[in-house]
Amino acid sequence: MKNYTIAVIEGDGIGPEITAAGMQVLEAVGKKYGFGFTFNKVLAGGCAIDKVGVPLPEEAVHTCLESDSVLLGAVGGPKWDTLPGHLRPEKALLGIRKALELYANLRPARLLPELKGACPLREAVAEEGFDMVIVRELTGGMYFGESGRRFGLGGEEAFDTECYSVAEIERIGVIAFELARSRRKNLINIDKANVLESSRLWREVMHRLKERYPDVQYSDMLVDNAAMQLIRDPKQFDVVVTSNMFGDILSDEASQITGSIGLLPSASLGETKRGLYEPIHGSAPDIAGQDKANPIATVLSCAMMLRLSLDQPEAAQDIDDAVSRVLAKGCAPPTSPLPAKRPSPARK
Ligand SMILES: NC(=O)c1ccc[n+]([C@@H]2O[C@H](COP(=O)([O-])OP(=O)(O)OC[C@H]3O[C@@H](n4cnc5c(N)ncnc54)[C@H](O)[C@@H]3O)[C@@H](O)[C@H]2O)c1
Repeated sequence: MKNYTIAVIEGDGIGPEITAAGMQVLEAVGKKYGFGFTFNKVLAGGCAIDKVGVPLPEEAVHTCLESDSVLLGAVGGPKWDTLPGHLRPEKALLGIRKALELYANLRPARLLPELKGACPLREAVAEEGFDMVIVRELTGGMYFGESGRRFGLGGEEAFDTECYSVAEIERIGVIAFELARSRRKNLINIDKANVLESSRLWREVMHRLKERYPDVQYSDMLVDNAAMQLIRDPKQFDVVVTSNMFGDILSDEASQITGSIGLLPSASLGETKRGLYEPIHGSAPDIAGQDKANPIATVLSCAMMLRLSLDQPEAAQDIDDAVSRVLAKGCAPPTSPLPAKRPSPARK
């Protein structure tokens, strides 16, 4: 029987509760489809700081590198907020992404029919629904470019540099085109090619790649227009590919318009099959240990793991369908960070 080794970073706050639910679902679906799991728990985040003094012990990285994939709950909490930057729980996330060379972040944003009422967009837009995946470059661009402070003629200055190589753009582009090919075959590239040289190179590389994917309908969109289109007409998006910084901002915008940030999964991928899968929400310290945490984002992250890293698409679909059935029964998430939409007279 096929057996997968999964490194599990429970992390802090509700992390242990939601990863426990994820493991339970993986075991159940494995039993049904004839494969098994070995779960190796890995210490990382605030709990690692408490136990061994660093957010990401060497051993944790080693266990993740030896695994077929990584399941992550969430890290952080007020207890560690005053620590210096290099000792913050979030350092564990950056460290693990770097060690595993996870350069592609996939964030699906889908408006579930059961949650249309929580969508903050116009009623007509919510009624049409949307289902997109944002593919964000994760290990390059402005967040990793040269930065610093200096004194110029006008006094103190600060600078950050956006730099992308052809190879970095190509590898994220291939992930996005392949994903589009497996979905509705539509890819929108988002950049700022009217102003930025790095965006012009980004666009050139995407245009070269599109020749290899004639079955995928490809177009470009400037990031300022994309920010507007996401709230005006989100259903036009299927797969979106963009740089680290634009992806950071747009993926948060896209998750907010689903009205269900507590239900959204994510995947981070690199050159190998191994990926890191986690819900997009944080450690929710306000509800930790109270049996209130909604595990659905983690459960859907497990489905992404089965589909993208473990080659078990049927089992993945089974989980997605089960979640839809649960939501259709009216089991709404216990809490949603977005307030329920109030009826507005202007919308009538
Ligand atoms: N990837 C990560 O590990 C990650 C991501 C974001 C934030 N964080 C960290 O998490 C901590 C808390 O951050 P925050 O409060 O800004 O965001 P959060 O996502 O943890 O919580 C925001 C709100 O949503 C609720 N919520 C979140 N997930 C939920 C779930 N599964 N079920 C029910 N309710 C849920 C919380 O109770 C809270 O009211 C911070 O230390 C932050 O740095 C970690």
